[in-house]
Amino acid sequence: MNRYAVTVAGGGPTFEAGAGERILGAARRAGVWLPFECGWGSCALCKVTLVEGEVGLLFPDAPAVTPRDARRRRILTCQSTPRSDLTIKPLAVGLMVRSETPAERPTADHTGELVGRDELGPDIRRFVFRLERAADFREGQYAILDFGDGLRRCYSMSSRSGSPLVEFVTKRYPGRAGSERLHSLPLGATVELELPYGDMWLRPGARPVVLIAGGVGISAVLALLRQLHAAVDPRPVLVFYGAGSRPELVCWDEVEHLVHGLPGGSLHGALTSPENGWPGTNGLVTDALAEHLPAPETADHYLAGPPPMVDAVLAHLRARGVELTRIHYDRFG
Ligand SMILES: Cc1cc2nc3c(=O)[nH]c(=O)nc-3n(C[C@H](O)[C@H](O)[C@H](O)COP(=O)(O)OP(=O)(O)OC[C@H]3O[C@@H](n4cnc5c(N)ncnc54)[C@H](O)[C@@H]3O)c2cc1C
Ligand code: FES
Repeated sequence: MNRYAVTVAGGGPTFEAGAGERILGAARRAGVWLPFECGWGSCALCKVTLVEGEVGLLFPDAPAVTPRDARRRRILTCQSTPRSDLTIKPLAVGLMVRSETPAERPTADHTGELVGRDELGPDIRRFVFRLERAADFREGQYAILDFGDGLRRCYSMSSRSGSPLVEFVTKRYPGRAGSERLHSLPLGATVELELPYGDMWLRPGARPVVLIAGGVGISAVLALLRQLHAAVDPRPVLVFYGAGSRPELVCWDEVEHLVHGLPGGSLHGALTSPENGWPGTNGLVTDALAEHLPAPETADHYLAGPPPMVDAVLAHLRARGVELTRIHYDRFG
């Protein structure tokens, strides 16, 4: 495979990227911290100006790409591969040297064999892959699963770091490419995984922790809860978990168990179509926040789930005076 030199303009580092290798992935493998957030094409944080060189675009219609980008030679490093030596200039200034860099894990490539598959709810499954070596990430982060033929999707890890067994909680959307492919994998199948990605990991400190999951967003929240539970973390931990109906509130018993094992834990469920006798909030997760979150501006917030839920929660928290730096989230789409 041809290898190319990628140089960050303005005296930044130079690293190597292979033909066909995503620039962002190559940088992370080399320990070079380029700005990024979603890893797949929606957030625009990885956008750079291509000062010199030629690239291939893997996802020209990515949501983060605008019609002006081509004219201005702007590309997404998460969806571009080198076709020559390159010089790039990140647009997201101030992120080149991230404050968290010392604790950052370089992204690694793994091969995973599917060793576990359970039905948790309607079209919702837990998948367990055994990697060839232990996975190193921070709880709350996600992996990119490569199903072949260029089909790659992000999935949050619900398991703890440091084990070769990596677990995911995922939803199947009938007729849609990635989730159908994942849900049709037989036991023993192998996939390539790239991890870790994402910014939704637990910040140290004494501030209350608010964890908010919509649907399968519980995957990332479970990992954070397992981490807090194992550490018997003394901080107040408020968990909000919303779904449509009770069967979709998967892993509820485990979430309840983990929360009750925390000195300052509390759990609030919200259902939009509850059955009779549901003791939680009848409505959206934002209704539960309005009811049960007294002083959000004093807390750190972590949220994951479908885009409409994440956007509604972001608007709710912002309206209540929470600074953006106190909100870490993954929008699942
Ligand atoms: C950070 C993150 C974490 C996630 N965690 C989970 C999780 O824990 N559990 C879970 O069930 N789901 C999770 N998702 C959602 C998951 O990645 C898929 O979007 C979901 O499975 C539906 O995929 P699909 O292919 O079936 O649907 P589709 O609607 O076909 O595709 C889903 C998304 O992929 C985008 N896409 C299309 N082509 C490409 C491409 N070439 N490269 C990259 N993206 C492309 C589409 O724009 C669309 O928004 C997460 C998403 C993100 C971004
Ligand atoms: S668009 Fe989000 S990391 Fe590339």
